[in-house]
Amino acid sequence: MTRTRMLLSAACAALLATGAQADENANMVIDGTEMKIRADAPAHMENVDEIMSGWVFRSVETQALQLDDFDNPAFVFVDQAIDLWDKVDGSEGKACSSCHEDVEDFAGLRTKLPRVDDGQLVSMENLVNECRTERMGAEPWKWSGGQMTAMTALIGLQSRGMPVDVAIDGDAAPFWEKGKELYYTRVGQLDMSCSNCHEDNYGVMIRADHLSQGQINGFPTYRLKNAKLNSTHGRFKGCMKNIRAEPFKEGGDEFKALELYLASRGSGLAVETPSVRN
Ligand code: HEC
Ligand code: HEC
Repeated sequence: MTRTRMLLSAACAALLATGAQADENANMVIDGTEMKIRADAPAHMENVDEIMSGWVFRSVETQALQLDDFDNPAFVFVDQAIDLWDKVDGSEGKACSSCHEDVEDFAGLRTKLPRVDDGQLVSMENLVNECRTERMGAEPWKWSGGQMTAMTALIGLQSRGMPVDVAIDGDAAPFWEKGKELYYTRVGQLDMSCSNCHEDNYGVMIRADHLSQGQINGFPTYRLKNAKLNSTHGRFKGCMKNIRAEPFKEGGDEFKALELYLASRGSGLAVETPSVRN
């Protein structure tokens, strides 16, 4: 363990000790799943010993909001998605519920995405839009628009508490390699890579905010800052803009590859959708 890493671990320990809430919940076990922290990080994360959900790095107040479904503001949008589920749209006169009996049938899906279908890397947004355009004759939803993030929150919620478990071998391997490369490539006017913040410096303060490991197990996430659900790719875009880089396109190949790679870095963390962040 390097000296910086030791200092950072100390910072995380201090962070965990900031409130009783954090102490109690940090290692909460649900159905045998270590909810917030996994002690044995995947082998490809060279400089990380423990993987931690972004929840661990939030204030006690924000943590509490996520833990209570009645207080969690994301559930307003989950309710909207429940209405959308039954709403007829498109030339075929169908709603999601015309074909999918129960949204609960999607339990486990979130843990496996993105995945390769017929040689293409697909995210949940692709699957939803494929149904809309190919099966309903409806317009696709915008990748990070309100309807899409509401629906991916509702579908993701069905996997809450289940461990993230994306495939990274076989057909997925080249996409994963691409995502890994993007993660470690310095970009933008500030010449930084994702790893410079989320691997080398998690636990430290940056502009009055605690840097997390940049995990995606809680997405889409409700942000107090913009009072809406935020997609995974929307968050990547924000981080790229912050380092003054030209962001990749939401739903594009680069962000999907990055999504797969990040999911694998959080392998074993429980799905926390819909999470709450500042
Ligand atoms: C200059 C530092 C910096 C860089 C570089 C950076 N980020 Fe971030 N990122 C942040 C900050 C600050 C936050 C908000 C606090 C947190 O969760 O770390 C954040 C949050 C995130 C989150 C949300 C985590 C959660 O639990 O809600 C993800 C995902 C993420 N970043 C991914 C990335 C990716 C992918 C890259 C590279 C394209 C990247 N970041 C580059 C600073 C950075
Ligand atoms: C005309 C029937 C039909 C409609 C309407 C429909 N779907 Fe589908 N959907 C399917 C079929 C068929 C599949 C592929 C087989 C499967 O996995 O169930 C599928 C697959 C999916 C998947 C991927 C499931 C998996 O395990 O890979 C998701 C997510 C999904 N649909 C969401 C939706 C949503 C959300 C709506 C409404 C916006 C919707 N679907 C509307 C028929 C439909």
